[in-house]
Amino acid sequence: MPAHLIAPSILSADFARLGEEVRAVIEAGADWIHFDVMDNHYVPNLTIGPAVAAALKPHCQRPDGRAVPLDVHLMVEPVDALAQAFAEAGADIISFHPEASRHVDRTLQLIRAAGCRSGLVFNPATPLGALEWVIDKVDVVLLMSVNPGFGGQSFIDGTLAKCERARKLIEASGRDIRLQIDGGIKIDNIRRVADAGADTFVAGSAIFGKPNYREVIDAMRRELGA
Ligand code: DX5
Ligand code: ZN
Repeated sequence: MPAHLIAPSILSADFARLGEEVRAVIEAGADWIHFDVMDNHYVPNLTIGPAVAAALKPHCQRPDGRAVPLDVHLMVEPVDALAQAFAEAGADIISFHPEASRHVDRTLQLIRAAGCRSGLVFNPATPLGALEWVIDKVDVVLLMSVNPGFGGQSFIDGTLAKCERARKLIEASGRDIRLQIDGGIKIDNIRRVADAGADTFVAGSAIFGKPNYREVIDAMRRELGA
């Protein structure tokens, strides 16, 4: 199993102070910065675009200068033009929902050709079927454990069985693919999710909803035994 990574979602950060918030959560131990893009079309909410990603990029580094990956989760339809725009804005990982792209294989290729890691996102009711056919072009499998669109929702338990299945597919492929989970992740359920095979954990309200980000991230790592 690869090392566990924690990816705070800035969806729950203070949008009036995003640069500061990104630096604070990196200082508190974030491994990736999760950046949620919503278009009020694929999901019923509207957030931030490539200009904000470009503005935050210089903040995505540790005090010693090491870069922290900018993990862009596209909840948009169509996907390709925005994927390209986010690659140009400095995204390191770009994930999208297969039902939002007319040609999933082409979108995966486009993301990698732009120099980014590619991610495929599965909603709670979306089967993993497509993964089998494009697994050689995927760097991150992202399982939604809530319906996309909002922070602060409750974890959907059915994701655990899907996570076990995704882990088996990844192991069988022998490829270096991260298994990420997004939605309702808290200190008190992160261990169960890790036991189901996830290695990368998005958490928005659990971290940004508390005054001390480090306390939450440390407690999550203790749960993970890392
Ligand atoms: C939901 C987003 C999530 C969201 C998670 O559509 O993809 O990344 O920020 O928020 P929490 O951790 O509060 O469920
Ligand atoms: Zn997300």
